[in-house]
Amino acid sequence: MTKLLETERLYLREFVIEDAQLLIDLNSNPKVTKHSGYGPVKDLEDAKRILKDIIFPQYKNKVGRWAVHLISNNEFIGWCGLKFIEENNEYDIGYRFFEDHCGKGYASESAKAVLEYGENTLKLKNIIARAAKENTASINV
Ligand SMILES: CC(C)(COP(=O)(O)OP(=O)(O)OC[C@H]1O[C@@H](n2cnc3c(N)ncnc32)[C@H](O)[C@@H]1OP(=O)(O)O)[C@@H](O)C(=O)NCCC(=O)NCCS
Repeated sequence: MTKLLETERLYLREFVIEDAQLLIDLNSNPKVTKHSGYGPVKDLEDAKRILKDIIFPQYKNKVGRWAVHLISNNEFIGWCGLKFIEENNEYDIGYRFFEDHCGKGYASESAKAVLEYGENTLKLKNIIARAAKENTASINV
């Protein structure tokens, strides 16, 4: 496992196929998926399909949705990262965390590191984010 980015309390790494169950767990709370436009991940097969078809292809562009862990105990707490949206030729920052790990500043801490990576390492000129109007937690990030 390679750590891509590290912050004061967190590290980010690429997902691997063995993480399928983590995606199921993360998406099992309707509050976490409420604003995302899709519901729970059905089963391991569905989770592996999402990894193979949606998440892994992004990694070839040096971007992607990355697993976020606590440095203190290695716990997986959610994901954060950039997605290249080919149709619009734009890079989108996104994040999703377990409810237990919201309200601790982890989304902002990881998003800041991802933005800096986009600007300084990838030299991206424009990174966008979209959030539902009522998703104030996301808009605050
Ligand atoms: C959107 C989401 C990632 C925001 O997470 P979050 O934890 O609220 O965001 P932050 O990391 O910025 O944390 C800010 C909160 O942590 C608190 N906090 C505690 N310790 C902190 C610290 N050391 N540093 C910064 N903030 C800290 C802040 O006071 C703030 O609390 P408040 O919301 O009560 O004002 C989260 O709600 C989520 O996963 N939602 C479901 C998925 C989703 O909607 N994704 C976005 C789609 S557009």
